[in-house]
Amino acid sequence: MAGSDTFRAAAAYDRAVGRYGPSLAAGLIAFAGIKPGMRALDVGCGTGLPTATLAERLGAENVAGAEPSEPFAEAARARVPGAEIAVAAAENLPFPDDAFDAALSQLVLNFMRDAEAGVRELARVTRPGGVVASCVWDYAGEMTLLRAFWDAAREIEAERGAAADEGVLMRWCSEDELRGLWAGAGLEDINTGPLTARAAYDGFDDLWEPFPSGIAPSGAFTASLEEDGRTALRDAFRRRLGVDEEPFELTARAWAARGVVPG
Ligand SMILES: C[S@@+](CC[C@H](N)C(=O)[O-])C[C@H]1O[C@@H](n2cnc3c(N)ncnc32)[C@H](O)[C@@H]1O
Repeated sequence: MAGSDTFRAAAAYDRAVGRYGPSLAAGLIAFAGIKPGMRALDVGCGTGLPTATLAERLGAENVAGAEPSEPFAEAARARVPGAEIAVAAAENLPFPDDAFDAALSQLVLNFMRDAEAGVRELARVTRPGGVVASCVWDYAGEMTLLRAFWDAAREIEAERGAAADEGVLMRWCSEDELRGLWAGAGLEDINTGPLTARAAYDGFDDLWEPFPSGIAPSGAFTASLEEDGRTALRDAFRRRLGVDEEPFELTARAWAARGVVPG
């Protein structure tokens, strides 16, 4: 990807779902029980939003990231100088056994090729007694932005909208599924629960702006529409959110799971 495209992809992510990243990361870090003095890995670190929150708590030298997208990894390196960011997928992490006190992954499980293998790898690189924690959006329920988006998509293009709806397509979306995934990886003392993230917008235009860029499944759906379809989607989306050009805030619920590496 050329330099300006790289910048655009990372910037579009940060303005879309990434807007919830720091707030969600703060919740996940607290849920995982991360404390100063620990060394932590952020898997699927994207543009480095959760990595940066970890670095604020632990110091960048005690934080590493893994991200398979080279442009996103570059953005993460720029955001968190001093943290080691590897270009790698969760299923095959380039770190030795027991290298971290904690391994986190925020909003990544549903994008892994093999989430079972990914969680096993997070456990492998975490020391015995260390913690593995992740979270996924409540796509079908209270992730307000994406739920309203896909409901609007289904309103204007019933079949294609239903076929792309992340609330239907995403495999790991409930506490029970996460608990099963954690147990299958051999993790112990498993806890699950909700996290609520927040994002502030200057107005609906501010919210809509990154969608036509094609970033994330919602952006890809938007970019696939002709001009008329995009206008209809935009109108239905705004109506469903019940917002206008005044500033507003949205909340988004995620489901989190944490477990302890045995031994
Ligand atoms: C929704 S983004 C979340 C990014 C970041 N964790 C955050 O919260 O801002 C999903 C990320 O997972 C990455 N990803 C996709 N497949 C992956 C895999 N197999 N292992 C690790 N990360 C993966 C994507 O490149 C993307 O950066």
